[in-house]
Amino acid sequence: MFNLILFGPPGSGKGTQSEKIVSTYQLQHISTGDLLRDEVSRHTPLGIEAKKFMDQGMLVPDEVVIGMISGKIDASPDARGFIFDGFPRTSNQAEALDKLLEFKNTTIHLVLALEVPENDLITRLVNRGITSGRSDDNEEVITKRIKEYHAKTEPVAKYYNGQGKLERVPGNNTIDQTFQLLTKHINKYLLPVA
Ligand code: AP5
Ligand code: MG
Repeated sequence: MFNLILFGPPGSGKGTQSEKIVSTYQLQHISTGDLLRDEVSRHTPLGIEAKKFMDQGMLVPDEVVIGMISGKIDASPDARGFIFDGFPRTSNQAEALDKLLEFKNTTIHLVLALEVPENDLITRLVNRGITSGRSDDNEEVITKRIKEYHAKTEPVAKYYNGQGKLERVPGNNTIDQTFQLLTKHINKYLLPVA
């Protein structure tokens, strides 16, 4: 089993690159943002609670997000591995994930951190907002999401760097160029599925 975290600020390309990695390496994709948006669209109690935070560009409380993850891992017992996109986003979440994976006799193998200048992040997300319908893709909320990232999520990179698992990858080239850079790291652990 191979477990990868795709790390980076809002708009750095985590979702875009996850899709390519999933189809190339046949990993199971777990995106907490997608899972939460699904709960919101189905008006579940979890979704109604989460929406209050998401609409403001704030992180959803740890216990809500951590609670969603274990079931998702259990739902794919035969997975070749998992790609975590947008999770963990706080040191608490990172510690909880480590415990959860240890309980399942596995671990995080690699953390790839996409690095993109802040101006580019804002331009990408404002542009996406024209068509995405996402309630958090407007300049005011985007700025808040980036602030949350610096305050609460950046420390997670340090956590994995301390474990020797972090690799920083420039994310401001084209989508395909960035993918090539990511595959160089992943190929050390796992070969593409033909
Ligand atoms: P989430 O859905 O995870 O959003 P995010 O981290 O803010 O990131 P995005 O999905 O906006 O960006 P991305 O990095 O995936 O980039 P993408 O590939 O889309 O979270 C949303 C909210 O949910 C949070 O604010 C929080 O409230 C809550 N939440 C989620 N997880 C949580 C957690 N673990 N704990 C607590 N709360 C949580 O690309 C962006 C755009 O750029 C696209 O239009 C794309 O086409 C374009 N693009 C991509 N790559 C390139 C490139 N190389 N060149 C040019 N354009 C590019
Ligand atoms: Mg995303």
